[in-house]
Amino acid sequence: MTGTLGLIGAGMIGGTLARQAVARGMEVVLSNSRGPESLSGLVAELGPRARAANPAEAARGADLLVATVPLHALDHLPSDALVGKIVIDTMNYYPQRDQVIAELDSNSVTSSELVQRKLPGARVVKAFNSISFFNLANAARPSGAPDRSALPIAGDDAEAKAAVAELLDVLGFDAVDTGSLAESWRSEPGTPVYVHPYLPGTPPEGLGQQEALRWLHENPGKPVPAARVRELVAEAVRGKAGGVLPGAF
Ligand SMILES: NC(=O)c1ccc[n+]([C@@H]2O[C@H](COP(=O)([O-])OP(=O)(O)OC[C@H]3O[C@@H](n4cnc5c(N)ncnc54)[C@H](OP(=O)(O)O)[C@@H]3O)[C@@H](O)[C@H]2O)c1
Repeated sequence: MTGTLGLIGAGMIGGTLARQAVARGMEVVLSNSRGPESLSGLVAELGPRARAANPAEAARGADLLVATVPLHALDHLPSDALVGKIVIDTMNYYPQRDQVIAELDSNSVTSSELVQRKLPGARVVKAFNSISFFNLANAARPSGAPDRSALPIAGDDAEAKAAVAELLDVLGFDAVDTGSLAESWRSEPGTPVYVHPYLPGTPPEGLGQQEALRWLHENPGKPVPAARVRELVAEAVRGKAGGVLPGAF
C-alpha cells in the first residue's frame, strides 16, 4: 500500500501501528500532545520512512489518519485539518480515565458517533479498538495465512471502510464490516469480541496484576478468524457503556 499514514497519538496503539506500517513499506507521520521533539526516539527507531509533526500537520500530510488518543482528548483533535480525511478511531470509553460522558452512559450514541460529531467532515471508521496493543503486534499475518485474525470495522462511509479494510490487510488482518457507527457498540468494551478472544488465555494462578500483564504480553495471542469475529459481534447485547481499566487496555 502506498501513501502516508498519519498518527495522532503515538502511544501503545499509535506506536504499534507505526512500526507495522513502516515494516510494510508505508510512510508515517507521527504526532502527540508534547510535540515532535518528544518523538525523536521513536522516529529514529522507525527510520527514514517516519517523521514527526504536530497533530494538524500530521492531518494535512497524510492520506489516512489514525486518531488514537484517550477519549478525553477528543476536543483537542485538529478537526479543521481532518475535514475530508479518512480517520480511523481506535478510541474506547473508560470513565475512570476519560471522565463520565453522560451521552455514552445513557447509550444515546456510541463513542464513535461522538468522535464523528466532533470531527464534522471527517470520514470516521472505527477499527483497531478491540485488540490489545500487544496482540496487534503479535497477531499480524500475511493474507491467506491459516492463523490470520480478523478485526471488526464500522463506519457510515462505504469508500472509507474499503480503504481501512485495505490498510488492515496490509498490516496483517482481515476486516469484518460490522455496520454503521451507530452499530459500533458491538465492538466496544465489555462486548464478546473485545480484546479477550485474542488473548493467549488466562494467566497462571498466583500472579500479581503486573506479572499477569507481563504474561499476557509475552505469550502469543490466539487467532480469531473472520467467521468467529462475525459470531462474536452477532452475540453482543448492548449493556452499560464503557470499560473498567484492568491495567494496560
Ligand atoms: N492500549 C491498548 O491496548 C488499546 C487497545 C485498543 C484501543 N485502545 C484505545 O486507543 C486509544 C489510545 O490508546 P493507547 O493505549 O495507545 O494510549 P497511550 O499509550 O496512553 O497513548 C496516547 C497517545 O495520545 C497522545 N495524546 C494525548 N492527548 C493528545 C492530544 N490532545 N493531542 C495529540 N495527542 C495526544 C499521547 O501523547 P503524549 O504522550 O504526548 O500526551 C500519546 O501519544 C485509547 O482511546 C485507548 O482506549 C488502546
